[in-house]
Amino acid sequence: MKGIILAGGTGSRLYPLTQVASKQLQPVYDKPMVYYPLTVLIASGVRQFCLISTPQDLPRFRQLLGDGSQWGTSIEYREQQSPEGIAQAILIAESFVGKDPVTLILGDNIFFGGDAFPRAFGEFQSGATIFAYHVKDPERYGVVEFDSEGKAVSLEEKPAHPRSNYAVPGVYLYDNDVLGIVRAMQPSPRGELEITDVNKEYLRRGTLRVQRLSRGTAWLDAGTSSSLHEASAYVQTIEKRQGMKLGCPEEAALYRGFLSHDQFETLVNSMPQCEYRDYLADLSAEVKRVGIKSA
Ligand code: G1P
Repeated sequence: MKGIILAGGTGSRLYPLTQVASKQLQPVYDKPMVYYPLTVLIASGVRQFCLISTPQDLPRFRQLLGDGSQWGTSIEYREQQSPEGIAQAILIAESFVGKDPVTLILGDNIFFGGDAFPRAFGEFQSGATIFAYHVKDPERYGVVEFDSEGKAVSLEEKPAHPRSNYAVPGVYLYDNDVLGIVRAMQPSPRGELEITDVNKEYLRRGTLRVQRLSRGTAWLDAGTSSSLHEASAYVQTIEKRQGMKLGCPEEAALYRGFLSHDQFETLVNSMPQCEYRDYLADLSAEVKRVGIKSA
């Protein structure tokens, strides 16, 4: 499964922060926002990535993530010249996707907890898999409605009168048919290729799977100054309590077997002295002592 990370947009709601660095490069407590979705995909076994961003921001992402080999992965980069919708990312990455299935994750979606993603990725065979998460303000999102048997029956993008409280988070798994679906799509009235229209097409074909994320999963928004601050506070609280980091690609790559213990140690030793390095060095020593305990 190939992985597309979409880190575009103007981030206007975070102005003036986004005058100098895009939203997905802003810190969420102790690391850049894009580390969190990247870690979700690494932990789910995705190894080949394409990161899409604006022409201005792309060099910064390259500087931060490089070619991905430090995590036993590969990362390619593509430009989104103008923000013409989330589904456009699939067209931009067409040559990267090739004949494979693909997952698309939004660079500002932050998730913690549960094993829903690694499980869904492991089970994925064909069609599309999307997720549903209970929220207080569904009108801000794509919304999925279920019938009494729990089957998804409708999808709507930012409806004024939502038919349920289940929002669709920004992680989508598609088989290779997605390329044909997006190619045939027309922009919405707001001029965008809507990801919800892609999902509606899979629903129409009867090949859409909607998996509800349990309350044990946290899905955080970091699109406004206030929600960015709250996301940072959440990460700090959990990390301080557990002594374990969230959104740490090095750790996920080690657990997933993308890096050997030796490669992991070399990577840690290449980092400047800092709290992040100390954490990974402790982890390395622990893994040496007791092996890998969790994924
Ligand atoms: C986008 C999608 C929406 C989805 C949301 C998740 O909205 O259009 O369906 O629920 O991401 O973050 P946007 O972030 O563009 O408002």
